[in-house]
Amino acid sequence: MKRALFLCGILAATLLAFITMDASAQTNQAALDNIFSRKSVRSYTEEAVTPLQIETMLKAAMSAPTGMNVQPWRFVVVTEQATKEKLAGGFNKMIAKAPVVFVVCGQTIRNGRLNGNWTADCAAATENLLLAAEALGLGAVWTACYPYDDRMNPAIEALGLPEDVKPYCIIPVGHPAGKDKPKDKWKPENIHYEKW
Ligand SMILES: Cc1cc2nc3c(=O)[nH]c(=O)nc-3n(C[C@H](O)[C@H](O)[C@H](O)COP(=O)(O)O)c2cc1C
Repeated sequence: MKRALFLCGILAATLLAFITMDASAQTNQAALDNIFSRKSVRSYTEEAVTPLQIETMLKAAMSAPTGMNVQPWRFVVVTEQATKEKLAGGFNKMIAKAPVVFVVCGQTIRNGRLNGNWTADCAAATENLLLAAEALGLGAVWTACYPYDDRMNPAIEALGLPEDVKPYCIIPVGHPAGKDKPKDKWKPENIHYEKW
């Protein structure tokens, strides 16, 4: 009897070990850690961002979900100083100082009508791009453009955007100059379960 109980105990412990092992094998902790460590970075060193890093960030952006898979995002990659300064305008000096700047734009018209999802799609692409920057050890920040005319107009002019393409946001990217830390935004009071 004692022996049977002992064997049952061993069996249960082994099963439990397998179950927990399986759960941890399915968790991509590195991906979660990258999300938790992302933060806005607004100052950069002069070190260049490589073409491969730029392409990786664009690939991540284009992996975002998109309403009806329309993919209305368009990206303008800017490294020329004069253009960066025009984009920075009076409001965002960090844009002029970053080695590379992404302008996330949206094709607003689809089949002759407004695509109501274009801002949500561009936001999803923007977050993916920011996460890729974090994963590459780079620093980046989402700076607003749409729907503010004083921010959109300089971008439209500097980039020569067609009328149906709007600049959604501007993301300066570079190697972090400081030691910015992620903010803890976990607030259980912002969550409602089942009903408000
Ligand atoms: C829609 C949107 C617009 C933003 N616009 C600006 C901006 O114009 N300038 C800026 O410095 N940061 C901007 N940010 C970055 C926020 O200030 C930043 O995400 C927030 O303070 C939280 O900090 P964290 O990104 O480090 O978590 C923007 C973020 C979002 C989502």
